[in-house]
Amino acid sequence: MKNTITDLLKHLTEAREVVIFSGAGLSADSGIPTFRDGATGLWANIDPEEVASIEGFENNPDKVWAWHEAMRALFAEVQPNAGHEGIASLESLLPNARVTIITQNIDGLHQASGSTRVFEIHGSALRVRCHHHCGFIELWQAGQLAPRQCPSCGARARPDVVWFGEALDEEVFAHAAEAAIDADIFITVGTSAIIQPAASLPMAAKEYGAMIVEVNPHATPFSEHADYSIRSGASEFFPALCAVLLNGIGKLDR
Ligand code: APR
Repeated sequence: MKNTITDLLKHLTEAREVVIFSGAGLSADSGIPTFRDGATGLWANIDPEEVASIEGFENNPDKVWAWHEAMRALFAEVQPNAGHEGIASLESLLPNARVTIITQNIDGLHQASGSTRVFEIHGSALRVRCHHHCGFIELWQAGQLAPRQCPSCGARARPDVVWFGEALDEEVFAHAAEAAIDADIFITVGTSAIIQPAASLPMAAKEYGAMIVEVNPHATPFSEHADYSIRSGASEFFPALCAVLLNGIGKLDR
């Protein structure tokens, strides 16, 4: 671990573009279940086609809304964990770098912990918008019933998330892809990295020469492509990394 951190430290302090690519595992220690972690994974208990797909919304919008209402309520109760906070601290700890967060998470916890440059490629369950993209979009306040109809054009309203069977927001994804290509170091955290097109981003970063680091307590299909696989939870790893950036490598010996 110490050699890994030493090498990481060198790359991080020299980097101009640092990209963090996050998934559900980052928020696990905040109390949000992941999607695919065995029996506790959300998709072990409910079919994503029913609650998080465009077909599901066409067939049974009430069921889709009910699932997102439960998510919205959960997100109102949780707080960023030490992993989110450590990632947010990288902005001040790496003054020569631009830190870009590309997240698949829809929980808003990166922004809540203070990260400023965040691309939510799967949208956010903290917003609702017009299903027909007329331009209506607003914050979904916790505890409030979201509008079912777009107040601007009368089309259906919906959570501002990307469902299975839908394209990602082109502009958001283009910014994310640009950051991936420019990355000097690209750190994936808490993701199984199997859902496309999101999973193409770490591969693009690698192709364009970034050092690739995976932070995940378990191996993933992406592990073989990483320069370093750190088998650790996010809320342990990022505070340790920040401590080293603050205090120097000697901190690791304590
Ligand atoms: N720290 C870091 N990683 C963790 C932790 C932790 N404390 N706990 C679990 N993990 C890892 C798991 O080992 C797993 O590899 O997080 C990963 C979670 O993977 P998924 O459940 O597949 O979540 P994610 O990769 O974000 O899913 C991608 O799939 O269903 C869609 O749209 C949804 O954005 C989501 C996408």
